[in-house]
Amino acid sequence: MRVAFYDTKPYDRDYFSKAAEGSGLKPEFHEFRLGAANAASAEGASVVCVFVNDKVDRECLGLLAGRGVRMVALRCAGFNNVDLDAARELGISVVRVPAYSPHSVAEHAVALLLTLNRKIHRAYNRVREMNFSLGGLVGFDLYGKTVGIVGTGKIGRVAAQIFRGFGCEVLACDPFPQTEWAERHSVRYVEMDALLSAADVVSLHLPLNPATAHLLNADTISRMKRGAYLVNTSRGKLVDSVAVISALKSGHLGGVALDVYEEEEGVFFEDLSESPMQDDVLSRLLTFPNVLVTSHQAFLTEEALTAIAETTVDSLLRFLEGREAVPERVLA
Ligand code: NAI
Repeated sequence: MRVAFYDTKPYDRDYFSKAAEGSGLKPEFHEFRLGAANAASAEGASVVCVFVNDKVDRECLGLLAGRGVRMVALRCAGFNNVDLDAARELGISVVRVPAYSPHSVAEHAVALLLTLNRKIHRAYNRVREMNFSLGGLVGFDLYGKTVGIVGTGKIGRVAAQIFRGFGCEVLACDPFPQTEWAERHSVRYVEMDALLSAADVVSLHLPLNPATAHLLNADTISRMKRGAYLVNTSRGKLVDSVAVISALKSGHLGGVALDVYEEEEGVFFEDLSESPMQDDVLSRLLTFPNVLVTSHQAFLTEEALTAIAETTVDSLLRFLEGREAVPERVLA
């Protein structure tokens, strides 16, 4: 079975080639992202395998269906870039990797926060220039601070437990609270407003959908504690970046760590070091000493890449062999 992979990087090719060895699957790796304009490239493939920034909208799905594609396999957890209603109508199955390593993302969120708070990013550059002074590098203890976890799914729960390990008080907010888990780890569920006003650090671990887009906007940010830190490793559009810039300029936000950005498509994952930056909002964000941006790399651990490749290959083989799909992976 031919499988067309889009938006692939060398590490995708390595891990997927290894997972597909001897399986009968014929991976075809494309570096470009899938969209309606290049859907013809899937000719001859029964499955397309996509990532977070491929644009699998109604138009694209219609073109794929016309070329005989019967399945979209997302090699990620989030699925906001696929029109599931259109896929259902066209009889295209959609599967994802619901859980690969929640630890990879949760640990990255904590790594970003510690780097930012303890000014490691600035210290690293300073000592390389033989500047061993400590001016401007004062951080704060995480111990005793209040951390607000928005979304206590697989990743949010791991993040909450790590913060409990630091001795933080952890508040959480989720329309589907995990009460037993919360009791076991001394995590307290509160309403979003209470979380925003009490937390020294707010970390986002919820999916992007029409109800959660710009959840953090000028209004909700203004309800955060003055000087609070915001960490987003979920999806860029959960946060209004222009509102974040205003809050950073006024000092209302003490620090912002982002692994995702609302206009990351075409920027993140690419080497743009030779071209002029076209995104003025991202450029402005990158000028703040108390902003740390990584380009959607929270998932990038050996364990996560192995699990992503193995789960995806298993879903494809089930499809090929007419075996039942694993229910929690099926979206349409
Ligand atoms: P999950 O589905 O296990 O958990 C999401 C949780 O968010 C659920 O408990 C849900 O009830 C909750 N939620 C939904 N709407 C909410 C709201 N308005 N307020 C509070 N909570 C709400 O998802 P998982 O695996 O924990 O992933 C979380 C997000 O992390 C994903 O949706 C994805 O966007 C992002 N992600 C980012 C990665 C990266 O490399 N930066 C890698 C993997 C996931």
